[in-house]
Amino acid sequence: MSTPKAQIYLDTHRTIAPISPLLFGGFAEHMGRCVYEGMYDPDSPLADERGFRRDVMDALRDQGYTTIRYPGGNFLSGYNWLDGVGPKEQRPRRRELAWQSLETNQFGTNEFMEYCAAIGAAPMLGVNMGTGDIQSAADLVEYCNAPAGSYFADLRVSHGYRDPHKVHYWCVGNEMDGPWQMGHLDAAAYGSKALEAAKMMKLHDPTIETVLCGSSNDRMPTYPEWDRVALEIAWEHMDYHSMHYYAGNHENDTASYLASALLFEQFVDTLEGTLRYVKAKNRSKHDVYLSWDEWQVWYKGDPVMGDWTEAPHLAEEMYNLEDALVVAQWLNVFLRKSHVLKIACVAQVVNVISWLHTRKDGLLKHPSYYAFKLVSNLARGDALDVLVTAPLVETKQHGAVPALDVSASFDAETGQGAIFLVNRSLSETVVTDVVWQDGQAVAVDKAWQLAGSDPKEVNTWETPDQLVARAIAAPTVDEGSATLALPPLSFTVLTTHVA
Ligand code: AHR
Repeated sequence: MSTPKAQIYLDTHRTIAPISPLLFGGFAEHMGRCVYEGMYDPDSPLADERGFRRDVMDALRDQGYTTIRYPGGNFLSGYNWLDGVGPKEQRPRRRELAWQSLETNQFGTNEFMEYCAAIGAAPMLGVNMGTGDIQSAADLVEYCNAPAGSYFADLRVSHGYRDPHKVHYWCVGNEMDGPWQMGHLDAAAYGSKALEAAKMMKLHDPTIETVLCGSSNDRMPTYPEWDRVALEIAWEHMDYHSMHYYAGNHENDTASYLASALLFEQFVDTLEGTLRYVKAKNRSKHDVYLSWDEWQVWYKGDPVMGDWTEAPHLAEEMYNLEDALVVAQWLNVFLRKSHVLKIACVAQVVNVISWLHTRKDGLLKHPSYYAFKLVSNLARGDALDVLVTAPLVETKQHGAVPALDVSASFDAETGQGAIFLVNRSLSETVVTDVVWQDGQAVAVDKAWQLAGSDPKEVNTWETPDQLVARAIAAPTVDEGSATLALPPLSFTVLTTHVA
């Protein structure tokens, strides 16, 4: 049997849209050990003078996070932000209902601002639309963004922060469509509350941008009607519409799981259609974009309730090679949908459903870490509309799908580009011609690959570097074309420049 062949056609003029830097964001929730023992652990020898874990901050910087969404998540819908500001010794210990844990409030809004500044990420704050009212949402904007001279701004000053935090991105609630959510509302009630909250928030600071809660996933019985109804009501005061989605290999059917990009694209397509419909129906000149502000693999069944303890081990999934290849495809989808998708936050940045795990003396990086790091550091400029012809692989859930999942970027200002290629085949190497169609003299600078023979392979504390992105020989470009062999179960990245 001959080796399957594929062709990738690129044209640096055939662009989709500028890649929003905010596609490479993270999500940090007061859940399990994300904040406590993850980001913040004053008892650790690895912590700085503020109690921030240095090794975790280094890893977050290394991944190039551009924004961090905080403080939840389901946690948000029972959170009183006033609990988390002011002198630490006066902050209340509370029973936290979303994850049945004990919340000490030793990390709150101001610590989060310092954390974001330390890693160079823009803060994205959530306001409580569950137990919280529109007044408390507006008060938090005043606390964060108003200059000294009014009650909540002066409260911030009295807490040691004279200058406003200038928080630009605001999530108006979390997963309000979910019956599990504290203070859950139907779409019309939520849309009306979100509209009024955003109105007050923008009266305090008209420069902020707001995110409406979309459906919690595409399996919700109210999807996508929830999105349409809430959007129709709140449209003019919203800038983004949120999407949440957790993927998983529930059936232990790796071939189908490795075609997850199809599901991700469908989800975006449906919501993009909803945005267009609502804009037309509302006769609006305003645009709303998508914010995929929770995405990750999550299905391995680790506990999620904390038995009323502090920093319990919750949802500490171990991610393997197939999970990393799903993450790589997800990032490809972000680039392919960059015309409508402007924000994305991986859930979560450390310990909880995360590819980073801490223990007292160290940090473990799962294979997906390396996939994310490559794309977040290299995808710049515009996303390219790549034409792919590839052999097909059979899947139970999706029928025949192309063996390759591909995206590419090109920065016209620097002349630099990147190509991201997943070979989802379980067994076949795919020899691939990469063809630049626009006649420019292009060279491949570097190439990396994350690959293995066993989709279930993981990094462990004993073998932490089993699966990392390794440098491989860069293919030579000859008359606008380069050929490389993509092994099965692999993610390959090429960087290019126009000579
Ligand atoms: O990220 C974990 C949880 O998943 C979040 O709290 C919630 O928004 C989602 O259901």
